[in-house]
Amino acid sequence: MLPAWWKEAVFYQIYPRSFQDSNGDGIGDLPGIIDRLDYLQELGITAVWLSPIYDSPNDDMGYDIRNYQKIMAEFGTMADFDRLRDGLHARGMKLIMDLVVNHTSDEHPWFQKALADPSGPFGQYYFLRPGQPDTPPNNWTSFFSGSAWRWFPEQQLWGLHLFSPKQMDLNWSYPPVRDAVCHMVNWWLDRGVDGFRLDVINYIAKNPGLPAGDPLIGQLMGFTGVEEYFYGRHLHEYLRELQERSFTPHHAFSVGETPGVGMQMSKLLTGDYRHELDMVFDFDVLETPGHVRWDDYRYDLNYLRDYLVDYQDHYGSHYWQALFIENHDNPRMISKVNPDPQYRIAIAKLLAVIELTLRGTPFIFQGQELGRVNAQFHNIRDFQDVESINKYHELLAAGQTEQAALAVLLAGSRDHARTPMPWDTTPHGGFTTGTPWLAGDDDYRQYNAYSEMANPRSVWSTYRHLIKLRQANPVLVYGATDTVDRRRNAWSYIRRDDDHQPIQVLINLSARQKRMTIPAGGSLLYRNYPAHDGRFKAYEARVYRLPE
Ligand code: NOJ
Ligand code: CA
Repeated sequence: MLPAWWKEAVFYQIYPRSFQDSNGDGIGDLPGIIDRLDYLQELGITAVWLSPIYDSPNDDMGYDIRNYQKIMAEFGTMADFDRLRDGLHARGMKLIMDLVVNHTSDEHPWFQKALADPSGPFGQYYFLRPGQPDTPPNNWTSFFSGSAWRWFPEQQLWGLHLFSPKQMDLNWSYPPVRDAVCHMVNWWLDRGVDGFRLDVINYIAKNPGLPAGDPLIGQLMGFTGVEEYFYGRHLHEYLRELQERSFTPHHAFSVGETPGVGMQMSKLLTGDYRHELDMVFDFDVLETPGHVRWDDYRYDLNYLRDYLVDYQDHYGSHYWQALFIENHDNPRMISKVNPDPQYRIAIAKLLAVIELTLRGTPFIFQGQELGRVNAQFHNIRDFQDVESINKYHELLAAGQTEQAALAVLLAGSRDHARTPMPWDTTPHGGFTTGTPWLAGDDDYRQYNAYSEMANPRSVWSTYRHLIKLRQANPVLVYGATDTVDRRRNAWSYIRRDDDHQPIQVLINLSARQKRMTIPAGGSLLYRNYPAHDGRFKAYEARVYRLPE
């Protein structure tokens, strides 16, 4: 197992719009993040992933970029960015940015020029196709509802957008696009960024000719056409080029956002002998089989165990797993596992134990360390996300009632993860002195960073304790994982290597009491309940150091 800083790192994902507002406009910003760097250091974080901070009309909250080399005015200036980078580096933390190059905003000059002169130098930067207004070039559908094609009446052209109609897909088969992307990536790496999280990077290689999607697969997946681009013919080639021209020369780190890839494709994308990506996010962890994000269901932790054990057992030593359970695109995990408030704290801590004691690199999403749960949205007007709003109207158009459509959003909306970060008990949790761009819940009075930092039994204190434990015990990073108990609702594993005392984790995956076998001679390093005798309580988790 080759050592690397990013294998030892504990990442923290910041969604800048919702982290900390510094000027009262209700929108989080870079000076706000700078003010909170000590907080991250105190928690033990060693690397930060920033969701997009580039100039954008915000149709998809920054994932629609108008200018890759300019900071979004609402977030601050390039001077603020430099201060943020320096502030992180001064604290020994790495900084990775979000690289969104499957598409640009329709307001990006490349697209504007392509539209103005489709046969000119930018015409091939995108997928622009002549045709008739009622017949899109193929049957692909958008992830944000409807066709993946937008009609431009003035030019009599169709343009491809896998996401919103304001996010136009770049044509990676056209070499100048790859040149422009490498140039921009190098510009940021030269500015001192340590790496990137690559947005839907496995979608960049559309199969030549844009073949129609199989309707049956489309029906199964909920999106038509996916099989023609989620693992396209030229994907590996493009990734290797990006690695060779930009990442390798800068010793930069890369983690791909790769929806739909499983373990085998993840290996092909990240093998340390393949020179493509360092890690990928495999989203199969987020829903139990047979469910999609919009379903209102209970997430069975036995599945989480089986999914993770499979990776621990079979991923092998040339690959490294990205461990995550939340991000800005998903509802909060605690709410999916069991929304009953009496279990909130225990589940939050149990999830922390799992994420921080397995082999792989933990990515903590902002607020996860406070045990955040889903928001109490009451009305479609409470939502801001383009995906949720489009979904709602799609459901109404399909004949659903407003109440039923709202229920779907309450199960799956990305806005649950995007509510303001609660810092203290002042109005809006201290996120802003103004009106937040997205309303949060009143529970900030109880669950906020300051109160939790002051409480040694809080979820925050659990995260801090376990992060420190991981950092002090290399066996928790590089050690092998031996599963020793896999009975229904039980999970126990031992992390071991040749040089250190092993560490054993025991978890009750259910709300019912469970008999577990305590290791003889083990010394307790952590438990998510006060000491007690007998069976493991609901969602109880413990960590022991074993004798050699
Ligand atoms: C994945 C991002 O995480 C999500 O927020 C965004 O909407 C899509 N990619 C499109 O960029
Ligand atoms: Ca602001």
